[in-house]
Amino acid sequence: MKPRFSNATAIGVAGAGTMGSGIALVAAAAGHSVVLFDSFPGAIDRARAAHAGTYQKLIEKGKITADESTAILSRIVYTDQPKDLVDSGLIIEAIVEDLGVKQSLFTTLETIVSDPCVLASNTSSLSVTSIGGELRLPSRFLGIHFFNPATLMPLVEIIPGLQSDTELVNDVRALINSWGKTTVLVKDTPGFIVNRVARPFYGESIRIFEEGWLDVPEGAAGMATIDWALREHGGFRMGPFELMDLIGNDINYTVTETVWKQFYNDPRYRPSLTQKRMVEAKRYGRKSGAGYYDYAAGAVLPEPDKDPVRAARILHRVLSMLINEAADACYFKIASPADIDLAMTKGVNYPKGLLRWCDELGAAQVVKELEALREEYSEERYRPSVLLKRMAREGLKFHA
Ligand SMILES: NC(=O)c1ccc[n+]([C@@H]2O[C@H](COP(=O)([O-])OP(=O)(O)OC[C@H]3O[C@@H](n4cnc5c(N)ncnc54)[C@H](O)[C@@H]3O)[C@@H](O)[C@H]2O)c1
Repeated sequence: MKPRFSNATAIGVAGAGTMGSGIALVAAAAGHSVVLFDSFPGAIDRARAAHAGTYQKLIEKGKITADESTAILSRIVYTDQPKDLVDSGLIIEAIVEDLGVKQSLFTTLETIVSDPCVLASNTSSLSVTSIGGELRLPSRFLGIHFFNPATLMPLVEIIPGLQSDTELVNDVRALINSWGKTTVLVKDTPGFIVNRVARPFYGESIRIFEEGWLDVPEGAAGMATIDWALREHGGFRMGPFELMDLIGNDINYTVTETVWKQFYNDPRYRPSLTQKRMVEAKRYGRKSGAGYYDYAAGAVLPEPDKDPVRAARILHRVLSMLINEAADACYFKIASPADIDLAMTKGVNYPKGLLRWCDELGAAQVVKELEALREEYSEERYRPSVLLKRMAREGLKFHA
């Protein structure tokens, strides 16, 4: 039987913003002809200019030749007409994160493309099943979730909806792997792997800050102290506050709120007022010139209070919550332990897979930490995962 995808498969990308323009480059660099569609002509022009700029820099750095750049860019057609997607074998949608708008685009696309064309969404927080539910042929639909920037981040989460054809999902996974990406298979649940498991990195750190736990200083010095603890003692590339400022507090807050609502207000994911106030003040982070920290020219970053004992306790509180989340995702079969660890190291650059970290610390130690927090606060937020408790009882490990 003819394989579903080959280098000759034309790839359509809908939405030429941050993600869509990156995904188009990835597919073109892998040898596909690409049609990049956006309904706003300004967005198309910006994407074309950004592509040219990116490749010009790569040429200057000697990472690519001018001929290679011309060959790759000549494979991309830029358009504001959805009808130009007619010959696509796969369309990846990366438009605005709005269920109704996405459903309406896919309904239009189904009137344009042939029946074998595979349709996918790059949604970060919407249910894949709900987007696909409106399609005439929902079995051809799935989630393909790239990370920002799509050209550089290796991880791609592959998310079948309830109606997706299994063979098609396997074929898509093989295709994206052939683009040099690392794929993980995830159940269609809020936040998939990365945006769910990473919640406590931000949420628990903010909570520690709000409490002034262990006399963490108030204001930016407290945030710098927590950032330092997780960087220096945990090996995380960035601390939570500096990372939130990089991601954008508006985006991070929306993801937190969406995951919390979709989990029927589970207190483990409850957003914080501190972050909400940042958004209300338009202190989005680096992109707006200020967030938790000040990024104005000449601004001096606050000094952390470098107490190693406190830093170790901060790390273990945040890490226990992260491991609990990873273990729970495993317990509910959201993904395999290997894929959960792969997702956190390749999608958000964690220094180690959380389940491997748990194996090193021992599940009993993590449960002890969580039980102590639950005892202290009497909050469900700190309940240990059933799986973690079972592993602690039986002395088991996630990895051989
Ligand atoms: N930015 C991230 O870090 C990130 C990471 C992973 C996934 N995502 C997801 O990717 C998708 C796109 O996010 P983004 O950050 O690239 O957004 P963006 O705002 O940068 O780009 C969205 C683009 O879609 C276009 N658009 C809007 N409605 C359209 C329509 N009906 N038809 C055609 N084009 C339309 C807009 O003109 C814009 O150019 C969202 O679903 C988002 O959740 C974003």
